[in-house]
Amino acid sequence: MDSKKVKELKQALIKELQEVSTESNLEEFRLQHLTRQGTIAEIFAGLKELDADQKRIMGPELNALKKEINALFEAQKETIFQQKLKVAQDKEKYFDVTISKPVGHGSLHPYTRVTEEIQSIFMSMGFQVADGPELVTEFFNFTALNIPDDHPAREESDTFWIDHNRLLRTQTSTVQIQTMKHQKPPIAIIAPGRTMRNEATDASHDFMFMQFEGLYVGKNVSVANLLATLKSFLSTFFGKKVNLRVRPGYFPFVEPGLEIDATCPFCTKGCSVCKQTKWIELMGAGLVHPNVLKHCDLDPEEYSGFAFGFGLTRLVMLKYQISDIRLLHSGTIEFLKQF
Ligand code: PHE
Repeated sequence: MDSKKVKELKQALIKELQEVSTESNLEEFRLQHLTRQGTIAEIFAGLKELDADQKRIMGPELNALKKEINALFEAQKETIFQQKLKVAQDKEKYFDVTISKPVGHGSLHPYTRVTEEIQSIFMSMGFQVADGPELVTEFFNFTALNIPDDHPAREESDTFWIDHNRLLRTQTSTVQIQTMKHQKPPIAIIAPGRTMRNEATDASHDFMFMQFEGLYVGKNVSVANLLATLKSFLSTFFGKKVNLRVRPGYFPFVEPGLEIDATCPFCTKGCSVCKQTKWIELMGAGLVHPNVLKHCDLDPEEYSGFAFGFGLTRLVMLKYQISDIRLLHSGTIEFLKQF
């Protein structure tokens, strides 16, 4: 060992260190040169073989080498750390749209899913989807629907009145009127939408819920047409053949008025959904009342029609076995994540 060799080694180490650019390269360098078995320790071991005079010269030289390389190593370590930090900070500052990393995906609300499903079934039968405002005048929600002035549904307890004439619709049947006022028969529409009633909320009631209205107006329309349409819709929707049961029901805007039940799509012997009865109550329906046709400037002698309306909220709760209506309207991520 001599001064020349030490100098050569120093230059080689400095060169190698300057080329180090990552943390793992840095660690490789440390293991190879700076540990007890490393290059520097090895050259120190060589001191033993020198005589006293040489030791006096080479000792300080080796110490200087060790000090310098250690200092350069620390400096390089700091540089690499700073570079890494800057990359991390820049990443936060700038959003790189090209980076693909898994993010939480949204999903369709159960209302949207069921609405789309129902719409596509009715559209395949030639129905069109209609829409109407949620804020309506008394005429559309009551008068045109043949609901007399003294009907209890007009009372404050059920209806959110905005002023003496305007209110939040309590039923989607308003869309029947809006459609018939603007369109001449044949009319075949369905109208999903929100309805509002001034009610206390609990697990099965909310002041806002969704309904689904259907209206068909043409010539010689009968209850048989209504039942065939509903049977075909329900069988497709539930994915199995359902039978219908018809009971008389009173709705001022239809005559005759019907309550329609279907065989429980979830069981054959009785279950918790049908409360062991094997039937589920589904909707109100009937033939459009002549007075309603007249209010829409249609001649009841010429035209007839059927209408039905069911609780979309109820159907969604049935389909997904949702026990509390308020969950549906809560926007809670934990709840929505399941769909
Ligand atoms: N609008 C009625 C309700 O809210 C349902 C209905 C619609 C009944 C159409 C008959 C015909 O209960």
